[in-house]
Amino acid sequence: MERWAEAYTTDTGIYQAFANAADPEREVSRRVLRAIPYADKTILEIGCGPGGYAPDMAPRAKSYFALDVSEAMIALARERLAGIPNVTILHADAQSIPLADDSMDIIFGTWAIGAIWPHETRESALGDIHRVVKPRGEVWAVESHWQGPFMEMRGKEEQDGDHQTWLWYKSHGFRLVDVIDYAFEFSSLDEAKRILGFIFGEKAHRYLAAHPDRRIGHRAILVHKQVS
Ligand SMILES: C[S@@+](CC[C@H](N)C(=O)[O-])C[C@H]1O[C@@H](n2cnc3c(N)ncnc32)[C@H](O)[C@@H]1O
Repeated sequence: MERWAEAYTTDTGIYQAFANAADPEREVSRRVLRAIPYADKTILEIGCGPGGYAPDMAPRAKSYFALDVSEAMIALARERLAGIPNVTILHADAQSIPLADDSMDIIFGTWAIGAIWPHETRESALGDIHRVVKPRGEVWAVESHWQGPFMEMRGKEEQDGDHQTWLWYKSHGFRLVDVIDYAFEFSSLDEAKRILGFIFGEKAHRYLAAHPDRRIGHRAILVHKQVS
């Protein structure tokens, strides 16, 4: 079993090290920034985690709300985003967003909406996202693609799960806008074993024994829905 819940709450150092290893070339950020028309908009980021994306987006937005349910993640985000004047941090569940109806131009999340679990909770969160987004507003999300080396490490069940996540978005009117190839790069193979071993357990150790490399390729999808 993968240990995401601990990584978001009690062992956030692990999540931060994992997030810091992701995408040293900032390819995901570059592609997201190119696609999302965030300039001068009111933006809500769902499941902001430690706040890795807001520093790129918030300065050019009109206002930027970063929301997460985990107190530990919110503490990290507060630290990271302290100097950005138009950022408001919200410690809240995406099922009950503390913002007015029809108030956001864009709602956005990276590996966030798909991480809301169980299924009914994600449905309920999407319902609240629709309540908060303005008519003709937009919802954007980045999630993992179900193929590639990183997903080979995670195994078939997770590959199927990520494919199901895309099908879930599609069934709610999202379209696939981009497929982004990038990589995780750890400072050493031992660091890759420590971080990936914590989150993914034995399958990470098996994968790294067969592919002893501190860099692992991954692929993301960018999905979009224009609200009517
Ligand atoms: C995989 S992490 C992604 C964090 C960040 N967006 C990133 O790309 O590094 C998923 C985040 O979603 C948050 N989350 C999970 N369920 C949530 C919910 N019901 N409401 C708000 N945030 C939630 C978790 O606390 C965690 O910070």
